[in-house]
Amino acid sequence: MLTREYSPIFGDSRPLAGEFSAFAPINIALVKYWGKRDMALYLPETDSLSITVPHYGTRTTLRHDTHLKVDRIILNGVALSTDAIFYKRLLHFLNLFRQKGDYFHIETENNIPTAAGLASSASGFAACTLALSRLYGFSLSLRTLSAYARRGSGSACRSFWPGFVLWQKGHLPSGEDSHGVPLQALWPDLRIAWEQVTFGEKKMPSTDAMQSCKETSTLYPLWPEVVREHLSLMQSAIKEKNFDLFGKIAEQNALSMHATMQAAWPPIYYANAHTIHSMEKVWELRKKGLSVYFTQDAGPHLKLLFLAESAQQVCASFPELTLVNPFVQEVLE
Ligand code: PMV
Repeated sequence: MLTREYSPIFGDSRPLAGEFSAFAPINIALVKYWGKRDMALYLPETDSLSITVPHYGTRTTLRHDTHLKVDRIILNGVALSTDAIFYKRLLHFLNLFRQKGDYFHIETENNIPTAAGLASSASGFAACTLALSRLYGFSLSLRTLSAYARRGSGSACRSFWPGFVLWQKGHLPSGEDSHGVPLQALWPDLRIAWEQVTFGEKKMPSTDAMQSCKETSTLYPLWPEVVREHLSLMQSAIKEKNFDLFGKIAEQNALSMHATMQAAWPPIYYANAHTIHSMEKVWELRKKGLSVYFTQDAGPHLKLLFLAESAQQVCASFPELTLVNPFVQEVLE
């Protein structure tokens, strides 16, 4: 049931008949978004910077169903109960768009593990926003779609472009200027990989974890300054194609974010024994002269960063890797 006063994002527009579908990719943050300055609009404390991972993400298909009295949401082939966490999250997002009495049939399919810290919520909310705009017959700019998608999952606003994307935190109270902006930089030799291990769903949703860090972590007050410095160094590394600086900043930024979690109360850990083992492997390979670095989000998977010339050696050390070349042109479908 909707109880609030309506002013749907799409105004008085009515959904079209038929099924509308969209695909959006995941993105991996190189300088992380960690903390909201506005909990209702999902406005971030800082800018952040990511790289899009083409072909891995979410396909969402939507239709307006006049027979339904409640949304029907099918995630990876399974109908969700109305009290499932993801159901409630998507319901909250759909409430921003629908008019009273409109219900949707939604099928959403991830080709990466769901809610495991592999950014399925970023691709999911980006795909849903694009599918919604098609259902209502709008042809919106990517920046507008990005700002809308942000309200489902902050990091979703970076999933609309290939390559490097900066999420500018924005200054307007409405949040209109808090969206992704693509960087005009190509780095065709860059490679990203992650291990094909299944750990199940993450321990704590990232929104709860970042809020707890803001409220309790002894290290969180340092975070905005760390991000400012890392963003500036990361942008120089990308411009100059300085891979060792790039890798160092990505790894240090991820570890700094996790340090804010370890200094929260109660402490938050997303790593498990496998994560630590993989980190040690990366550090061992670096000692032997191989340029490989990692980043880690709100889950136990590490994402490895290296150049094409190191791919063979990295793959030999981590046998079950999914290896991606991020620089292909089209990412949305
Ligand atoms: O967009 P959310 O609410 O899933 O938060 C994403 C948080 C991190 O993945 C840890 C960092 C980031 O910038 O993507």
